[in-house]
Amino acid sequence: MFIIIMLLGLIFPRIHAVYLPKPSGKYFVGQTQHVFNHTTLNDPVANGTGTQLLITIYYPSLTPLDLNNTVPYIDPINAQIWESAFGYPSGSLQSIKTWWNFQSPIINGTAGENPLPTIIFSPGGGLNCWGYSVLLSDIASHGYPVIAIDHPGEVPYLQLPYGMGGVFGYNIYYSFNSSQATAIFQYRVADMLAIIRELIPSLVKAYSAPFNLSTYIALGHSVGGAATAEAMDREQSIVAGINYDGAFFTFPDVKRPFLMMESENHTMLDNTTWTEFPGNQTGWWEVFLVKNAGHLDYSDIGLWPDLLGLNHSTTPQIGSISGLRMEKIVRIFTKALFESVLGKRKTMLQPNGMWPEVHVNGQSGDNG
Ligand SMILES: *[C@@H]1O[C@H](CO)[C@@H](O)[C@H](O)[C@H]1NC(C)=O
Ligand SMILES: *[C@@H]1O[C@H](CO)[C@@H](O)[C@H](O)[C@H]1NC(C)=O
Ligand SMILES: *[C@@H]1O[C@H](CO)[C@@H](O)[C@H](O)[C@H]1NC(C)=O
Ligand SMILES: *[C@@H]1O[C@H](CO)[C@@H](O)[C@H](O)[C@H]1NC(C)=O
Ligand SMILES: *[C@@H]1O[C@H](CO)[C@@H](O)[C@H](O)[C@H]1NC(C)=O
Ligand SMILES: *[C@@H]1O[C@H](CO)[C@@H](O)[C@H](O)[C@H]1NC(C)=O
Ligand SMILES: *[C@@H]1O[C@H](CO)[C@@H](O)[C@H](O)[C@H]1NC(C)=O
Ligand SMILES: *[C@@H]1O[C@H](CO)[C@@H](O)[C@H](O)[C@H]1NC(C)=O
Ligand SMILES: *[C@@H]1O[C@H](CO)[C@@H](O)[C@H](O)[C@H]1NC(C)=O
Ligand SMILES: *[C@@H]1O[C@H](CO)[C@@H](O)[C@H](O)[C@H]1NC(C)=O
Repeated sequence: MFIIIMLLGLIFPRIHAVYLPKPSGKYFVGQTQHVFNHTTLNDPVANGTGTQLLITIYYPSLTPLDLNNTVPYIDPINAQIWESAFGYPSGSLQSIKTWWNFQSPIINGTAGENPLPTIIFSPGGGLNCWGYSVLLSDIASHGYPVIAIDHPGEVPYLQLPYGMGGVFGYNIYYSFNSSQATAIFQYRVADMLAIIRELIPSLVKAYSAPFNLSTYIALGHSVGGAATAEAMDREQSIVAGINYDGAFFTFPDVKRPFLMMESENHTMLDNTTWTEFPGNQTGWWEVFLVKNAGHLDYSDIGLWPDLLGLNHSTTPQIGSISGLRMEKIVRIFTKALFESVLGKRKTMLQPNGMWPEVHVNGQSGDNG
């Protein structure tokens, strides 16, 4: 009997469900997705002309969470791709459970109106938006609608909703050369502008969604963070921005609040763009460095080893900081930026005894 049970254990390794950190705000979270027909000319990752964009929307809801019907964290194809790339046990990523329901009712409001800005997000190069769902769902739980943009063909696999299939792209470890990286930066900027100027207004009209169409805050990781600054320069409705650990491609004076959060070694690799961009600013800006954080600690990936009880060493570009601690640091400083921009707090939260890992690595005033 004992041997049979042990054998069954080998055949069906028991994978217990593990939950992502619970969103910290007062609202429940709903999620939906939408695929836009949208043309991207000279799109290197579409082998010619790009035809689609996927958005994932996280939004506040008053409808209690149905824990038996939460949205899967990751699709089966991506689970297999990322598990094998990082040497994780099969089934581990799919054992992760979320805290949101698909298309649960959004909080009441008037179409096209919301006292809070709409948050727009662009991920790191080669990374899916689901890889940031902890931060994005947390923001939504505080009342902000969040729109995260995926560009098909770039990431290893992008699952489209509603039976539309999926799109395979570049291998996880593929290294984009400089002309590809520049093209990616350019379409990330164009994607953000198209979402704000055409695609979201038409969607809000079609669904009478209570989203603010005149005030956005843009966030991005890595190349998405660089795109945030350029999009902000071109689009006045973006009232503030955050770049998580992305080397800048351009150095516009965005004239509005701009927060930069970096990993421990960012400046080691990039002493130029994080000097040139701040040097051009006339508005408020600040750089926070998080000790012992790696580049991918600004995504959910930094949480995976801790959640799954795995050794950190097989996951690339994460530091020794605990994933749960990093998640808290990123969301607390992100929300503090929103609140200071909206006048809900007098000044930006500064690192103090509660945040010994966070160091100020430059702030407005430094450049006269
Ligand atoms: C998008 O394009 C596809 C294929 O060309 C078409 O079937 C679909 O109806 C279009 N969707 C919208 C919302 O226009
Ligand atoms: C959720 O599933 C559990 C276990 O299957 C069951 O006991 C419970 O009644 C379900 N809850 C709801 C709200 O359906
Ligand atoms: C939201 O709107 C619906 C339909 O108009 C209404 O029945 C409901 O009471 C409203 N809920 C709240 C919390 O205002
Ligand atoms: C959009 O958000 C801004 C800033 O929070 C607010 O001042 C403005 O009234 C909102 N607009 C609408 C139409 O809800
Ligand atoms: C581009 O071409 C490559 C190689 O043929 C293919 O693997 C990839 O899926 C294509 N990308 C798109 C978005 O069609
Ligand atoms: C970058 O890679 C693409 C695709 O392999 C290639 O067509 C292009 O010539 C390369 N550019 C540079 C500058 O190496
Ligand atoms: C950046 O500056 C640091 C400290 O001044 C130095 O140790 C590092 O080698 C520099 N990195 C590069 C790529 O120049
Ligand atoms: C910003 O700084 C860079 C280099 O530090 C400079 O070349 C550029 O002209 C400046 N201004 C703008 C608007 O980019
Ligand atoms: C994690 O793996 C590394 C490399 O294989 C090993 O040196 C280290 O001792 C392991 N740490 C733990 C806590 O198992
Ligand atoms: C930073 O770089 C040093 C030297 O290469 C390395 O030992 C350390 O692990 C890196 N830290 C992180 C968080 O990646």
